[in-house]
Amino acid sequence: IRQNSLQDLYKLHKNKEPITVITAHDYITGRFAEASPGIDAILVGDSLSMVAKGHPSTLELDFDDFYHSTASVLRAVREKFVIVDMPFGSFEESVEQCTRSAVKLMKLGKVGSVKIEGSYEMTDRIRSLTNAGIPVTGHIGLQPQKFNMLGGFKAQGRNALGALDIYKQALHLQKIGCKMLLFECIPEKVAAFITDRVDVPTIGIGAGNSTSGQVLVMADALGMSDGKKAKFVKSYLDINSLAVDALTRYSADVKSKSFPNSELHTYPMKDEEFDEFE
Ligand code: KIV
Ligand code: NA
Repeated sequence: IRQNSLQDLYKLHKNKEPITVITAHDYITGRFAEASPGIDAILVGDSLSMVAKGHPSTLELDFDDFYHSTASVLRAVREKFVIVDMPFGSFEESVEQCTRSAVKLMKLGKVGSVKIEGSYEMTDRIRSLTNAGIPVTGHIGLQPQKFNMLGGFKAQGRNALGALDIYKQALHLQKIGCKMLLFECIPEKVAAFITDRVDVPTIGIGAGNSTSGQVLVMADALGMSDGKKAKFVKSYLDINSLAVDALTRYSADVKSKSFPNSELHTYPMKDEEFDEFE
């Protein structure tokens, strides 16, 4: 199997076939994504800070922790394109720090793009990565790493001025070399307007149905978390309930001594000599 390249995603975009992206945060979720034929790309998102590590936001996520989680996902990857987030704290200090962190992630292998939240303020960093041959995915609209400045996790660009600002950010990101754009929580109209006016593929989450592709957090899509879900999420499964039910049945079996079953789950002796000791 050949791994999808950026060119393969561009081909989908050119043919107006929606690009399907799903996040993964470890080897198991990586395998789920890899085994699903219609998935085009895996995002190792820093949302794993919440869904896999139990933090309240993406800010607490440690780079080394994220790095090792990314490596776990990559062990499952065969053919899917992989986009990796730049976690909070790994790129803010300087262009050099940003480049060093991105290079480290690229050195894991199988990574096709790194994603950075922001626009104008990231210009030098994005140029440096692009010059190093690292395709950058720009992330605008709601930028969860900036929730303290935004006053929470709110949809962005809901008035004309805000929408125009996001449009300009998108044009800027394309101009400085971003190979894809991700829009989080912006009105469908705004995402459609921008998608019509840029050449690079746009991936949306909470951005309506006119972007070149969609991304969901796997924990949301599969109902792995028990928290309340955002308006833009569609859950295709309730793994949380299924898992809790299954573990309840397991413990009931242990308590009632119906598991393990002597016939099904135990190793019989290969000879009968041991019987003499009874
Ligand atoms: O970290 C993540 O999962 C993301 C998606 C919400 C786009 O950045
Ligand atoms: Na993210």
